[in-house]
Amino acid sequence: MPSARSALPSWQQLVEHQRAASGLRLRDLFAQDPARFPKLSLSMDGMLLDFSKQLVTGETMRLLAALGRECGLESQVKRLYAGERVNSTENRAALHIALRAGRPVLLDGRDVTKDAGSVLAAMGRFARGVRAGRIRGATGRKFTDVVNIGIGGSDLGPRLACAALAPYSKAGPRLHFASNVDGAAIAAILGNLSPATTLFIVASKTFTTMETLANARAARAWLAKKLGAKAAAKHLCAVTAEPARAAGFGVSAERVFRIWDWVGGRYSLCSAVGLPVALATGMKHFDELRAGARAMDEHFASAPLERSLPAVLGLLEVWNASLRGAASRAVLPYDERLKQLPAYLQQLEMESCGKRATRNGGIADYATAPVTWGGAGTDGQHAYFQWLHQGAGSVTADFIACCRPRHRLRENHEMLLANCFAQTEALAFGMGADEAAAAMRKQGLPESEVRRLLPHRVFEGNRPVTSILLDELSPRALGALIALYEHKVFVQSVIWDVNAFDQWGVELGKHLAERILPELDGKAPVSGHDASTRGLINHYKAKR
Ligand code: F6P
Repeated sequence: MPSARSALPSWQQLVEHQRAASGLRLRDLFAQDPARFPKLSLSMDGMLLDFSKQLVTGETMRLLAALGRECGLESQVKRLYAGERVNSTENRAALHIALRAGRPVLLDGRDVTKDAGSVLAAMGRFARGVRAGRIRGATGRKFTDVVNIGIGGSDLGPRLACAALAPYSKAGPRLHFASNVDGAAIAAILGNLSPATTLFIVASKTFTTMETLANARAARAWLAKKLGAKAAAKHLCAVTAEPARAAGFGVSAERVFRIWDWVGGRYSLCSAVGLPVALATGMKHFDELRAGARAMDEHFASAPLERSLPAVLGLLEVWNASLRGAASRAVLPYDERLKQLPAYLQQLEMESCGKRATRNGGIADYATAPVTWGGAGTDGQHAYFQWLHQGAGSVTADFIACCRPRHRLRENHEMLLANCFAQTEALAFGMGADEAAAAMRKQGLPESEVRRLLPHRVFEGNRPVTSILLDELSPRALGALIALYEHKVFVQSVIWDVNAFDQWGVELGKHLAERILPELDGKAPVSGHDASTRGLINHYKAKR
């Protein structure tokens, strides 16, 4: 019994179209249409999106837009922006757009941009005070280092933005990020810092997350040991939707910056979760980042699906994952500053759309979110690109690069971009047997060697890729890039009919860890669990 989505006429037409189009070759598509690049690329506010190297025709794009309309994408965007409870399993709105909106956004008749604005104003005063040295530690010394303790959405966004905007951070304190509960991580950070000059942000929407609380306790104990228990509060602040829990932990009320249940963790960078960015780069740059996100929000709300960058990206993901069977998507930033982007998008994409249960409780009979992975170019070229070019898996890739760097090493930059463009060309067009044989003959190889090596030297190509070129990686451009991907994920969730804003799949492991933790104490072997888990626990207890 096909699900409601895959039974839609437009979905069925796409299935037919995919059958007919399965033999398409990018080489032929480009040869047939010299205007393919201008036809299949869009731009907006210093961002170029080139999807001409995707395995699509004009007809594919027309059918995908029809699918979007048939799934009610335009009305779902309106519901999202209107503060409706689109997170149906948790009965919550998902109003990340209110964190950067230029006009009132109502939730149950209340303008939530006022709440967001007053927290951002307090956060701005705090960030300016720390940066200027007006807000100091218990011993009167200026804060030189800030450690953000958080995980998932309370870590990945600010970690990405602080790295991406490092060139704007010269006058600010140094930022460090402690997320993993592995004590080695926070110990390594604390080992290099002085308590008198270190400020900690405990960022946790729920203020119950095991990893974050363990690291926060370690930080508080470190402060108390060196400065005294009373002084520790002067070195703590918090970002949370649960201010009472933060107060219970010992954070003074005026140092608690609120978020709300209408902001999803992985969509929260433009809230007080962005405090590390404001501390590192200054509130002005954080506001520019929010303005870039706002510009993308406005574009997404107003552009027709065919001209909307997030809609096109999201529809292409549906085409690749659900219709073409691409189970994996590489995110390949050709910019060192965007090294954290694959990890950030992993959470955004896989926590949002890594689901099979549809919104009305059915089970999707089509593939949803592919595996998102990747890393910075050109490093990846010397590691996993072999698999991208000649491996057996079906993959797509996003290449992201910036035209103007913030350094003066022009030769390096042009080599970087030459590699980026070349890789998109190689993946899309490959190198056929004739060309490969000719290249070997040119190298002077004998015919017997040409024949023997030929299967290894052929590049099939026809791997679809998207390229995103930013004029420069300014705070505004970064905000737009983040919002582009946020909305892309929303588009996918509407087509796949999954709730993009819950994450029940992370719960079971958390509960089991809470149950196992006390069992690790003491010497006596445990007797519960399955044979493997019991064996692992008892092996650990015997060896530690
Ligand atoms: O991984 C599950 C999750 O709930 C994420 O969605 C969230 O971003 C992260 O944990 C951290 O949660 P919190 O901000 O409540 O500590």
